[in-house]
Amino acid sequence: MKALLILGLFLLSVSVQAKIYERCEFARILKRLGMAGYRGISLANWVCLAKWESGFNTRATNYNRGDQSTDYGIFQINSRYWCQDGKTPRAVDACHIPCSDLLEDNITKAVECAKRVVRDPQGIKAWVAWRNHCQNRDVSSYIKGCGV
Ligand SMILES: *[C@@H]1O[C@H](CO)[C@@H](O)[C@H](O)[C@H]1NC(C)=O
Repeated sequence: MKALLILGLFLLSVSVQAKIYERCEFARILKRLGMAGYRGISLANWVCLAKWESGFNTRATNYNRGDQSTDYGIFQINSRYWCQDGKTPRAVDACHIPCSDLLEDNITKAVECAKRVVRDPQGIKAWVAWRNHCQNRDVSSYIKGCGV
């Protein structure tokens, strides 16, 4: 009985553990999902963006007190415009997904939503961390040694 309890607690702790991608693993998945050059944005810029937004952590969430929205997942996509979390005032849900989808280990849906974000006129400038850490910089090191 006690062994079962310990096993249960162990499985629970595994299941809530975040998937943190390794830089090159992430770059290769992005490439496979068609992100290289999507809307003119290089793979290195996408990797730089995710590095500074989430540290490649799929479970990252950050609450924005100003508009009571939350940023979700590896790309820190915002619930005010892009997904539905049931607690953000005046949410638009332009990606038509529950925000929890953006926290999955499988980043396919997060990538699809990020593509939707950059189809808007502001493009990749939607991400503050990209503007602060990647814009007008040499970002080649973010895909260095990845073979992509
Ligand atoms: C990831 O999710 C997509 C669709 O959301 C699915 O097509 C794909 O098979 C999944 N990949 C893995 C490795 O489970």
